[in-house]
Amino acid sequence: MAILIKNISNLVTCRNETGLPKRGRQQSDVGLIKNGFLIFKKGKILFSGNESGLKRFIKSNKKRIRSEIDATGKTVMPGFIDTHTHFVFAGSRANEYEMRIAGKTYEEIAAQGGGIKSTLKAVRKTSADKLKEISEKRLNNFVKAGTTTIEAKSGYGLDTRNEIKMLEVINRIGCENRFGLDIFPTFLGAHAVPPEFTKKEYIDLICYDMIPKIAQRRLAVFIDVFCEKNYFSPAETDRILSTGVKFGLIPKLHTDQFNSIGGVDIALRNNALTVDHLEVLKLNDIRKLSLSGKTIATLLPGVSYFLDISYPPARKLIENNVPVALATDFNPGSCMTENIQTIMSLASIKMKMSAEEIVNAVTINAAYAVYAHDKIGSLEAGKQADVLIFDFPNYKDIIYNFTSNRLKTAFKKGKLIFLQYSKTINIRNI
Ligand code: NIG
Ligand code: FE
Repeated sequence: MAILIKNISNLVTCRNETGLPKRGRQQSDVGLIKNGFLIFKKGKILFSGNESGLKRFIKSNKKRIRSEIDATGKTVMPGFIDTHTHFVFAGSRANEYEMRIAGKTYEEIAAQGGGIKSTLKAVRKTSADKLKEISEKRLNNFVKAGTTTIEAKSGYGLDTRNEIKMLEVINRIGCENRFGLDIFPTFLGAHAVPPEFTKKEYIDLICYDMIPKIAQRRLAVFIDVFCEKNYFSPAETDRILSTGVKFGLIPKLHTDQFNSIGGVDIALRNNALTVDHLEVLKLNDIRKLSLSGKTIATLLPGVSYFLDISYPPARKLIENNVPVALATDFNPGSCMTENIQTIMSLASIKMKMSAEEIVNAVTINAAYAVYAHDKIGSLEAGKQADVLIFDFPNYKDIIYNFTSNRLKTAFKKGKLIFLQYSKTINIRNI
């Protein structure tokens, strides 16, 4: 039997009529229905629309409603999709955070053996079971903020055994997590060169050993590379991405974070689904992305905040018709938060994205960024019932009322995974 959410003040469907990620002015259309109604059953949306549509639907479908939720004064929207995370890791880099606050840069700390290499040591000495246990605990923090789908990268193992260990952990968390969250695994072996290899040896290992094994066991959907000075050059990135593509992995790219060295050209040549970071993206590369018309720009303003570096040119990307997604980049070095709502606030204040552009960036465009737009990202009949209820009559308030989480209820595939109790505790009774 079905569940009906009725009298929804703002039903934000994020529906998508073009069958493509939303770009330019389309990114401002959230498919808003005032006084909306939503029905779902067995994890799938059956109906989303207004009252007259509901009457027609009930008449022709004779659905029995098991329970009704009154959403007067509430906003209902699709579950958020965090398309760029490194949430599987061990150890802490709180000491590096303090070094940065005292004046050192991320790159200086990395050059002194910190950064990715310090998490590498911690991950290598942690067993798969332990790594799963500590990483899985973090899911709670994603869910509390409304995230119902997560992309997760390897990249702290950096040899065949440990990269496979990380991907196995990501896949196990995907299958076994208690929330039923969808987790999309990405192979990021080319995150840094580990100390025991020369760069040439390590890239050979990635191309001849890791990629074939990972692809054969279907441990990853995507392949990603950190294209950056002192990490992987455009030519090296090209070799790794194109090998991944030959083995059926979908390319993504970390590029233009600290230096603009030509990563966008390589991403476009390999038909990358997304280019991520883009803190120092140049206008020329924006034009190339605009002409390509396919690749999504995934912006991570939490990194700019946490490392105190420049913000990606969101307005220029949108003006040039490049579809924009937003993600946390949750990781121990450059963005230590699982909270996508914080990222939405930064996108508003620091990148001047509108509330509508932001909402599409964490829902439908994010669904395209993990190639799951047929299942998630909008509240349309046939899609998964990944549904959030916020205690605001207007969706704009989610961003206006920054850092004050008013998520009331979250459903994943129709299953209740989060419920915020609104009753005030009577202090005298404690
Ligand atoms: O997305 N830029 C490269 N990788 C991560 C940082 C990883 C780390 O510092 O552990 C990022 O910012
Ligand atoms: Fe990242």
